[in-house]
Amino acid sequence: MTLRFYTFVFFLLFLIALFGIVLSGCSDSGVIPEDTEPIDTTSVPMQISDFTSAEDCKSCHPQYYDEWSGSSHAYAIKDPVFQALRNVGQSLYIGSLDGACTKCHSAAGMRTGDIKWGPYQVDQLHPVSQEGVTCDICHSISNVHTISNAGFDLAPSDTKFGSTQDPDSNSFHKSEYSPLFESSDLCGSCHDLKTEDDVPLEAAYLEWETAGFGMTAKTCQDCHMPEYIGEMIPGGQQRTLHKHTFVGGAIPLIDFPNKAEHMLLVEEMLQSALSMSLSAPTTVTTGTVDSLTVSLTNDKTGHKVPTGTPFNRQMWLSVLIKDEIGNIIFESGQFDANGDLKNEYSEFPERDSALYNAQSTLIRRNGTHADGTWDAATIDNRSIAPNQTKNVLYLFEIPDGLSGTLEAEVKLRYRSFGPYFLRDLGLDSLLPIPIVDMNVDTITITIE
Ligand code: HEC
Ligand code: HEC
Ligand code: HEC
Ligand code: HEC
Ligand code: HEC
Repeated sequence: MTLRFYTFVFFLLFLIALFGIVLSGCSDSGVIPEDTEPIDTTSVPMQISDFTSAEDCKSCHPQYYDEWSGSSHAYAIKDPVFQALRNVGQSLYIGSLDGACTKCHSAAGMRTGDIKWGPYQVDQLHPVSQEGVTCDICHSISNVHTISNAGFDLAPSDTKFGSTQDPDSNSFHKSEYSPLFESSDLCGSCHDLKTEDDVPLEAAYLEWETAGFGMTAKTCQDCHMPEYIGEMIPGGQQRTLHKHTFVGGAIPLIDFPNKAEHMLLVEEMLQSALSMSLSAPTTVTTGTVDSLTVSLTNDKTGHKVPTGTPFNRQMWLSVLIKDEIGNIIFESGQFDANGDLKNEYSEFPERDSALYNAQSTLIRRNGTHADGTWDAATIDNRSIAPNQTKNVLYLFEIPDGLSGTLEAEVKLRYRSFGPYFLRDLGLDSLLPIPIVDMNVDTITITIE
């Protein structure tokens, strides 16, 4: 995408926004984001130079650097989808949305004023701001006062907080044990996003807490920072350590460190999320309408699936029922010519009326679909809750005169965005988006 294109889109959106505000008196179009006033950077007590770059941690903690550098945390502000979406929101609110996005995606840049109010070029920011959710953000979190909306206190200094009780001393930094590092609260401070009216739009922590996981053993770290035995620095003591790959469902869509390895981890993660089972009659008669039921149970995660940004994620069922010579007698969850599902986002008229897609929708105060979180008053969340089973029923007709057997192939598929979404943002160059098959199963039906 060229800069000129962005400038043009910006200008266009600016005009539309201005026009909209003049017409509506700036009232009912959406929820005004929290940070509507520019921050006075002169009174911010922290400087960006108070934070240490991950490059400096690398000399002693190369393994951590390697794992983190391929994670979504390292991608958080380089992410072209983040940038494009922020620019759209930004133009609608004429520049007042800055803090609302960067307070989680680049907290050091935002809180020190390195990220100035208004448009910015990521590659012109201080290197630490460009590192997004970098080592020295998490390891400088001294307290979580609110679980959501970046409700953490940052205390950058030469003391790094962590969960090791008796770390060896070193010449570069002091270490301090903090129980927060073993707690889901640390993650919840960024991973939950609420509107001004306290409506949760992103809610991994809330879902985890509601499911009763707060009472049991498993924290976010247990699943997303798995334990292993190793050395914190080369030649150091053998200890129980924690992986810093932060694997979820998404992978960077641009060239990024360790992308192929990270993709394998993502596949493993998604394939260990849900259980799927199929049920259909073993024998059917020609000319009748029969049913196939697909049951999806969220029995292995600590939150809804999908979670995080469930309004972006597509998790859907692909169903193909074929006769013995391969003719399709029923299908659902297949693509249109653009690679989109045949639902309201498709540019073509054909609709897949049986489609099961767990993607959520953001809703404005007036009930219409919102373009982004800045504009949403609530969410129609269609994700599957922990320990919940979702039964999806498909009805199919056996054509007259057919004999032999039918085979039904069912796939539960996942991708981080629908192609339409990236096209709308002018990000066609990032297509195609990788698809992961989370569960695959087949069932054979005999025709009497
Ligand atoms: C000069 C080498 C060196 C550098 C550079 C360095 N560390 Fe360390 N770090 C160590 C050593 C040594 C330990 C303790 C190892 C042990 O006890 O096995 C340690 C321990 C830690 C711990 C564990 C603290 C705890 O209580 O759990 C954290 C967290 C940490 N470092 C983060 C960082 C971060 C973040 C950076 C970059 C800003 C960094 N380190 C840079 C040498 C270094
Ligand atoms: C019992 C294991 C488990 C626990 C506990 C757990 N997760 Fe997950 N998480 C998973 C699995 C498996 C996936 C992949 C399925 C998915 O994408 O929803 C996942 C996916 C995610 C995703 C990516 C979702 C997407 O589709 O984009 C985020 C974000 C996330 N988890 C955050 C958290 C946070 C925050 C916590 C703690 C409040 C947490 N997880 C606790 C297992 C767990
Ligand atoms: C998203 C937050 C986050 C980021 C980013 C992060 N860490 Fe950590 N780190 C943690 C947490 C949480 C723990 C403790 C996990 C636990 O006890 O379950 C930890 C533990 C550690 C430890 C102690 C040993 C261990 O494995 O438990 C070291 C050393 C460390 N991190 C270094 C780094 C370095 C170096 C970077 C950047 C390359 C980094 N961390 C980035 C959250 C983070
Ligand atoms: C300072 C804010 C912040 C903190 C603290 C934080 N995260 Fe994140 N996390 C993010 C952001 C922002 C992203 C998404 C970046 C992107 O892709 O644009 C993310 C992405 C992730 C993903 C990948 C999601 C996906 O869809 O694949 C996982 C998994 C994850 N974080 C787990 C954790 C865990 C576990 C903790 C606590 C130990 C934690 N995070 C703490 C901000 C944070
Ligand atoms: C409260 C902290 C927080 C705020 C504020 C926030 N985000 Fe995020 N964002 C996250 C976390 C955490 C994730 C990871 C969830 C996941 O990937 O499933 C994320 C994920 C995303 C993703 C998906 C990344 C990917 O590539 O898969 C996009 C795009 C995004 N955010 C854009 C924005 C924009 C634009 C804004 C401002 C309107 C914003 N975010 C505000 C925390 C935040």
